[in-house]
Amino acid sequence: MLKTQDCGSLRSKDIGQKVRLAGWVRFYRDHGGVRFYDLADSFGITQVVYDPEAYQSDVDVVGMGNVLNNIGREYVISIMGKVRERVPGTEDERNPTGKVEVLIEQVRVHNASKPLPFEIAEQKNSMLPGEDLRIKYRYLDLRRAEMVSNLRFRHRVLSTARKYLDGIGFIEVETPTLTRSSQEGARDFLIPSRIQPGTFYALPQSPQLYKQMLMVGGVEKYFQVARCYRDEDSRSDRQPEFTQLDMEMSFVDMEDIYRTIEGLYSQIWKDALGKELKIPFPRISLDDAISKYGTDAPDIRFGLELVEVTDIVSCATYDIFQKILQKKGVIIAINLRSDIVKEKMLDANVGRKEVDRLIEWAKAQGMGGLTWMRMTEEGLSSNIVKYFSKDVLDRLAERMGARKGDLLLFMAGPKHQTLKAAGQLRLKLGRDNGLLEGKDHQFVWVVDWPMFQADPITGKVTSAHHPFVHPAGGDFDENGDLLKVMSDSYDLVLDGSEIGSGSLRNHDPNVQRKVFRVLGMSEEKMEQAFDFFLEALEFGAPPHGGIGMGMDRFCAMLLGCESIRDVIAFPKNKKFQSLVDGSPTKVEQAKLDELQLMTLAEEDEEN
Ligand code: AMO
Repeated sequence: MLKTQDCGSLRSKDIGQKVRLAGWVRFYRDHGGVRFYDLADSFGITQVVYDPEAYQSDVDVVGMGNVLNNIGREYVISIMGKVRERVPGTEDERNPTGKVEVLIEQVRVHNASKPLPFEIAEQKNSMLPGEDLRIKYRYLDLRRAEMVSNLRFRHRVLSTARKYLDGIGFIEVETPTLTRSSQEGARDFLIPSRIQPGTFYALPQSPQLYKQMLMVGGVEKYFQVARCYRDEDSRSDRQPEFTQLDMEMSFVDMEDIYRTIEGLYSQIWKDALGKELKIPFPRISLDDAISKYGTDAPDIRFGLELVEVTDIVSCATYDIFQKILQKKGVIIAINLRSDIVKEKMLDANVGRKEVDRLIEWAKAQGMGGLTWMRMTEEGLSSNIVKYFSKDVLDRLAERMGARKGDLLLFMAGPKHQTLKAAGQLRLKLGRDNGLLEGKDHQFVWVVDWPMFQADPITGKVTSAHHPFVHPAGGDFDENGDLLKVMSDSYDLVLDGSEIGSGSLRNHDPNVQRKVFRVLGMSEEKMEQAFDFFLEALEFGAPPHGGIGMGMDRFCAMLLGCESIRDVIAFPKNKKFQSLVDGSPTKVEQAKLDELQLMTLAEEDEEN
């Protein structure tokens, strides 16, 4: 046996014991001939010592010294030795093994290590090497305790989910990853087929159609820790391949789904965080989310809600507002209450500078700027109140619940853009004023989604979620106002990030066809893309619904990571390259020939 325990386990009670440890030499130093080595494995670090004066005569002190002399950083060694107390004053309080060390009696070197591209140490984020370097040498980055702990946390979350779902009758079913190219919203990754030249598989954007066919197959309660692939633009919370906890259930309504998911997360809270989670989660309609928080993924951990005041200020003579109102824009206000704001904002002089900074910030968001008023003993005051009648100012103060010292901030412009920017302003004010500090995580269901939305540029009707969503009430009039048709769908939002999305589905093939039709799909296209699926629905599909939840995003949020890449063992970088293996790469011509594919260069030559 190379090790009798791991490098994080020894304590004072083990003093006097003979142990074997194995791991990597993280650091070493020499103090007057006594050599100290930090021996690390994924469980911790133990100091092991070569101390020539301390050995009995049966130890080969010189031989061992020679072996140790040739050891470098990250060499893999195993040692046998005796646990002893550290010299008083040299204990390391931050390390659980820091009261003891092991006097090395035998050592074996299993492997050497090249000089490292970066130091493996627990640096603060700002001190870490560039992320591309960390991804290229991910196997070294993974040796850092923080990365080990991230992977362990992720494992704990997924193993709890598996146990919990198994306990309530779900089964895990793997669905194919070589699938038919579909229309789930993003671009597909395509895989050419060698056996059927000229045809392609697509990697699944999610197991959506397969899980629905499992319901047709009577599986009834399905889940999968599913790898999904989407060729979309890079963002810190997106990866081209990512993991969903994907679920589907038959014979359920939305309440059954909410209860199941709330139970699941409360178990994850217990097992992975050791805390109780408050359930049921609050629910907010999509309309409320947008009007109060300026987003469909609201962070409801703090107030500072947006308030529309367009109607009140419409009779003010303030030029900027009037111009916006003529263009059918809106005026949105936030009350930065004096009792929640950081001291400096209250100071009349410094506060003004802070407001100027906010104005610059608003301009950088593409807004014209922002306007402000402060509540004083005499009512609302600022350089623009002269354009507002007393009655308008009083009504404004009342709607905003303004009390002395409060600062009202106004944003004006086209509705969609202004709500979005005001939502961003709210988040900024919340962060800048420490309103999130010490706050527990907060889930919220965003409900009451429409079935369809109009593309802001083309005006074309598209799905608000995806085409398999069930209309509220089960059917809709395809000749009616499509934008008013509501759906049985929901998003699960955690601290202002969408971590899951789901719905009841169309189990009636005629309704499913109708949805495809209003999305502009011809009968021919429908058959070409979805014939197999529509046919499956025709063989007695049960009512069903489910959800897909982004596990990378969820784990990254709970761990407070800046990017989801930090909870993925081998992530792609910001340009979606897998630097650890250099992919994507060119492939040999012979492979392309086998697939009967032509490169762009060849095509150019032919032309
Ligand atoms: P949706 O497309 O909303 O729904 O995806 C569900 C959840 O997956 C996560 N997610 C991602 N995480 C990392 N990188 C990405 N590129 C990425 N894209 C999505 C998000 C999101 O909430 N089939 C439906 C689910 C259903 O209806 O059952 C679906 O995939 O957290």
